[in-house]
Amino acid sequence: MKGLVLCAGRGTRLYPFSFSQPKSLLPVANMPVLSSCITKLTDIGIKEIGIVINPGQSQIREQIGDGSIFGASITYVTQQQPLGIAHAIQLSESFIDGDSFALFLGDNLLQDSLQELHRAFLASNSTAAILLHEVNNPQDYGIAEIQGTKIISLEEKPLYSKSNLAVMGAYFFTSAIFEAITNLKPSKRGEYEITDAIQLLIKSGQNVNYVLSELATSDVGTAERWLEANRWMLKEKAGKEIISGEDCIITDCELIPPVIIGNNCRLSGSSIGPFVSIHDGVTISNCLRIENSILLQDSRVEDISLEITNSIFGRSSILSGPTGNKVAVFVLSDKSTVQFPQGKRAES
Ligand code: G1P
Repeated sequence: MKGLVLCAGRGTRLYPFSFSQPKSLLPVANMPVLSSCITKLTDIGIKEIGIVINPGQSQIREQIGDGSIFGASITYVTQQQPLGIAHAIQLSESFIDGDSFALFLGDNLLQDSLQELHRAFLASNSTAAILLHEVNNPQDYGIAEIQGTKIISLEEKPLYSKSNLAVMGAYFFTSAIFEAITNLKPSKRGEYEITDAIQLLIKSGQNVNYVLSELATSDVGTAERWLEANRWMLKEKAGKEIISGEDCIITDCELIPPVIIGNNCRLSGSSIGPFVSIHDGVTISNCLRIENSILLQDSRVEDISLEITNSIFGRSSILSGPTGNKVAVFVLSDKSTVQFPQGKRAES
């Protein structure tokens, strides 16, 4: 069995962060989403993995390389145009080469392992197996209608949904999916939808199995969802602990778990946490409080007497006080700088 991870989406809802970095490389609890996807695949013994990227995503090749750091072998497939999930699968046909495969959407963070879905796929001799989870916003997902143990229909982002069972970003397929894809027409949003391809399998009498997951899944599609994913990942990874990397200097700080700190960080005179991810090379000094926030590589936050919450600091961004002392939210992309005036209004 092979694995396929789709990363070619433009990630427009995550601008400005996804301007300078592919969305699948954005870290959640200091680990890129794509690394989590690859690890889920290798955990169930899948070692041959294809990654679909767009022509502007050389950073993925540079960071993930040939996969040896994961004990896997990685093949890259380029999708020139954003024509949808089914189109990306079609482009990967020669890589899949008649095998069965696990498909992962590269912006999806699953709390589940793939084990149960994998087992369900193999045990039932199905053509496809999908992961479902109850959601409150069915209009944003592919939605399944089920009867007993069978899926009877699937619909992509329905206006009026038949259920609240959303398709999450992990699937298993036999190579029968390729024939279904050749019969697809583009959807209203101009994409070849995987939901429509699976619907064709169901219509032609093929067995499509599912697993209903109790655990949350987060697609890191917006800044809010990124912070939310970061919260639960920190809870899972760090729990009541502070995880700290190498060569950090931490002085006179109150650290409230869960907090994860990368390598070479300088933290002083600040209250940090809960739910804060601090990437490599970050400096935080003299800050009243930072909670529920993500600080990317080499960002600096200094002399801030505001409470910082729900905030994201891009790589090498700088927020530097002194400030007043209310609550504030900052979403600073890579290399941005906010410099507060020194005590009084800045001269024009
Ligand atoms: C895609 C799929 C949808 C699925 C969702 C899961 O949607 O088309 O069926 O429910 O991923 O994240 P998109 O991310 O393209 O809006």
